[in-house]
Order: sequence, then C-alpha cells, then structure tokens
Amino acid sequence: MKENIIPHEHIVSVKDRRKLNKHNSFLLWFTGLSGSGKSTISNLVEQELHKLGVRTYLLDGDNVRNGINCNLTFSPEDRTENIRRVAEIGKLMIDAGLVVVAAFVSPYAEDRANIKSIVGENNFIEVFVNTSVEECERRDVKGLYKKARKGEIKNFTGISAPYEAPENANIEIRTEQEAIEVAVNRVLDYITRKLSLQDE
Ligand code: ADX
Repeated sequence: MKENIIPHEHIVSVKDRRKLNKHNSFLLWFTGLSGSGKSTISNLVEQELHKLGVRTYLLDGDNVRNGINCNLTFSPEDRTENIRRVAEIGKLMIDAGLVVVAAFVSPYAEDRANIKSIVGENNFIEVFVNTSVEECERRDVKGLYKKARKGEIKNFTGISAPYEAPENANIEIRTEQEAIEVAVNRVLDYITRKLSLQDE
C-alpha cells in the first residue's frame, strides 16, 4: 500500500514546534485493567501539566472507541489495531508538539512494544497502573465486571481475556497502596526532565 507514497518534507519541523511551545513533546502511556484508575490519574496529570502551560492532549479508550475506532471490537486482533491506530495518532500529535497522555487497557505486551517502535523509544513513557483484578472488580465503577461475570460481556480483560503486565514500566503505580495525589506527583516528577528542551 505504501509503494507509491512519497512523504513530503515539512518546512516547519517538530523542533520548531517544540521551540514555540517551550517544551518537549512525547507520549505518556497508561496501561492497566479496566477500572484500575488509568483515566482518573491521567486526567489529573494532564490537568497539572495544563496549569504549568504545557500543551497536552488526552486520548482515552472509551472516547477513542466512540469515534475513530468505533468499528473495533475487543477481540485480540481488534485490540491490536486499536492500539496501533492510537500509537499512530500519538505519533502525529508528538510531531505537532504536544505532550500526549494516553489511557488504554492495552493488555498485550507485543502491542505495547509496537507503540514504542511507532513513536520511537525516546518519545515513549510507560506507566503501569497496577490494581489487582479483585480490587477493580470490587470498585466496578462502570458495572462491567458484573456483566462480564454473568457472561454478558465476552473477552473481558482480567475475567475472560488476559492482561500481560508490563515487566519494565518506567513508572508503576499501586493504587491499593499509594494515594492518588502521591502517584500523580510521582508521574509529574518523572517527566519534568523530559519536558525540558535541553533534553533533546
Ligand atoms: S484495549 O484493550 O483495546 O486497550 P480500551 O482501553 O480501548 O481497550 O477500552 C477499554 C474500555 O472499554 C474499558 O475501560 C471498558 O470500559 C470498556 N470495555 C468494554 N468491553 C471490554 C472488554 N471486553 N475488555 C475490556 N474493556 C472493555
């Protein structure tokens, strides 16, 4: 498909856009079970970055699946395609000079490795929101675990579909042991250096 496609060189480069924004751009990727706290933590991180004058955009599984990825199911193949598309969108947004915050279950290690190769290792920070399935099920904010147990939702991560936990995440958050504000601050501390343009 790519055979006769010749990309243009853009006159305004990512470097120019980062300089204009006065900060670096990269992808901060949150992975974890449904109900683990990814959306809550990523929202708070984005809010704090926004306050600091950082240009951000938040991509979230539930939102993206209502729009550009509304044709995808939760089969392993469709999850792979979901994550691939989001990684490509993230890559464009990094090029646009944004700090992209993404929150997706992204249960397969291979799919997460693929994100890294799409956006480049330097542009990728992985945050593992490590909440046990028992705790997610106890919280069951959206009532989905209940439905999954009744068999009303098939391929539900943690119940009837696998979650391959990251082994080398840049940041791991154990929400059952750490207060949310502490976790948010830890993420912010981690990315402070990365935000600075001298880091390039
Ligand atoms: S992913 O596996 O492809 O990365 P994604 O993050 O986009 O998943 O979407 C997960 C969200 O969809 C969950 O937070 C939950 O609200 C909802 N959902 C619906 N069905 C499923 C399912 N079978 N497995 C996991 N999440 C599901």
